[in-house]
Amino acid sequence: MTQDEAKGLVAKRATEFVKDGMVVGLGTGTTATIFIRELAACGRKIRCVASSDASHDLAASLGMSVATLAELPELDVYIDGADEIAKVKGMGFALIKGGGGALLREKIVASAAKSFIVVADSTKMVEVLGKFPLPVEVIKMALPVVQPRLAALGLNPKLRQAKNEAGPYLTDEGNYILDCACGRIEDPEKTAAAIRAVVGVVEHGLFLGMATLALVAGEDGVSEVRP
Ligand code: 5RP
Repeated sequence: MTQDEAKGLVAKRATEFVKDGMVVGLGTGTTATIFIRELAACGRKIRCVASSDASHDLAASLGMSVATLAELPELDVYIDGADEIAKVKGMGFALIKGGGGALLREKIVASAAKSFIVVADSTKMVEVLGKFPLPVEVIKMALPVVQPRLAALGLNPKLRQAKNEAGPYLTDEGNYILDCACGRIEDPEKTAAAIRAVVGVVEHGLFLGMATLALVAGEDGVSEVRP
């Protein structure tokens, strides 16, 4: 099975967790995009809140009812992909997210949901987080202060560049992203706290203890992994 086939399989399975009447948070990225398309095709009577302009525009273009958090501040379920998923003793799932640049809004929308289903192909499951560079969203004017501080923490921060354009990548909130190729994250809570303590950091891509279920697609089909 290719990675794209696995993403398709898991996205389709995720639609079974969405029932009529629910308020659904839509993630961002290639897996979330397939999920949004599958969900639209199901024709469920739901309302949605999106975690990025791209997912908002896609869902709206498919005729889905998309609102803001101001209109729908409480969600039944948030469904999104991840860059890495680990099971950590005493914490449940620890994720790295933000490869698609939407980590801030993703974390906000996820935090407003009663449950968070992470959908992924099996390549995303890891023993220890950190092979995928950890994205950290930073206020633009704070970059000259934040980057050396994250470097001093040994996080190896690198300013993300926009694809096919000259210049840095900008998030939907107009911030920069520093991708931190820091290697194995043995203690995600400690790393999260150290990053959070740097003034000028808006948010980091560690989603700790937030996901309530992982749907993981591999050669044997889709497994439901509990925290
Ligand atoms: C976007 C994200 C994505 O969920 C993450 O990057 C996984 O993306 P994909 O489904 O394309 O592999 O966090 O900010």
